[in-house]
Amino acid sequence: MSLFAKHQVLEKNSILLLVGILIAVAIGGLVEIVPLFYLKSTIEKVEGVRPYTPLELAGRNIYIREGCYLCHSQMIRPMRDEIERYGHFSLAAESVYDHPFQWGSKRTGPDLARVGGKYSDEWHRDHLINPRQVVPASIMPGYPFLATTPLKDESIADDLVANAAVGVPYSPEMIENARLDVYAQVNPDGDRLDDFLARYPKAVVRNFDGNAAKVTELDALIAYLQILGTLVDFSVYDDKANLR
Ligand code: HEC
Repeated sequence: MSLFAKHQVLEKNSILLLVGILIAVAIGGLVEIVPLFYLKSTIEKVEGVRPYTPLELAGRNIYIREGCYLCHSQMIRPMRDEIERYGHFSLAAESVYDHPFQWGSKRTGPDLARVGGKYSDEWHRDHLINPRQVVPASIMPGYPFLATTPLKDESIADDLVANAAVGVPYSPEMIENARLDVYAQVNPDGDRLDDFLARYPKAVVRNFDGNAAKVTELDALIAYLQILGTLVDFSVYDDKANLR
C-alpha cells in the first residue's frame, strides 16, 4: 500500500479522520504550550515597574467599576501610527501587576496606556466631571459624582492581599500601611511621605482633586490616570535596543 493509499483510508472514514485531526492538533498544542511551563518567566522584567500604590489601586478599581475600558484601551501596538500618536509601544511588563489587565480592544476614546503626565490634575478634574468643559465635541459621559463621593478605604488592605495572592509583590509592610498610605499620597506635607516613597518609588504625591478636606473617588481615579505609562524610562531602553 502506497502512502497515498493509506491516506485514502483516513479520508474515506470520517471518524478516523476526526481522531487523526485531534491527534495532530494535540501535538501542535503541546509543542506550543509546554515550553511556557519550563520558562522561568515569559515576561521580561523591566526596570521601574512597581505595584500600584493603594490610592492608585483604588482608582483602578473605580476605572473598572465605571467601565472606562468599554471605550478606552490600554495597549499601544508596535505600529508606526500608534507609536507616533501615543508614544512607545506597550511592554508586557508594564501590565504585569494588572489583575485583570486593561488592554482592551475598543477605542471609542483614545488609548490611555501613556496618558500619565499628559494633562494636569485640573484638566482631568474638569474632564471627568464634564468632558465637554475641556473638549467641546467629546461624547464621553461625565462622572461628576466621583468628586463628591468619599473614597471607601476600609477594604483597601484586602485589595492588596487579593493582588498579593495572584503574585503582585505587596509586602506585609505595604499591606499593614495600606490605609494610611492612601492619605500619605494626597498630602505632600505629611510626615509619612518618606516611608511612603520608599515603598512606592516615583509615586506622584499631591492633592489630585483640589479638595484637601477629604479623599474622594476622583482623587483615586486621577492618581491612577497620572501614573499610567510613566514608570519605565524608555530613553534607557531605546538607546540600547534602538526600538524606535
Ligand atoms: C462612551 C465612551 C467613553 C467612556 C465610557 C469613557 N470615555 Fe474617556 N473618552 C472618550 C472619548 C470619545 C474621548 C475623546 C474626547 C475627550 O477627550 O473627551 C475620551 C477621552 C478621555 C481622556 C483623554 C485622553 C487623551 O489622551 O486625550 C481620558 C483621560 C479619559 N477619556 C478617561 C476616561 C475615564 C477615566 C473613564 C471612566 C471613568 C472614561 N474615560 C470613560 C470616551 C469614553
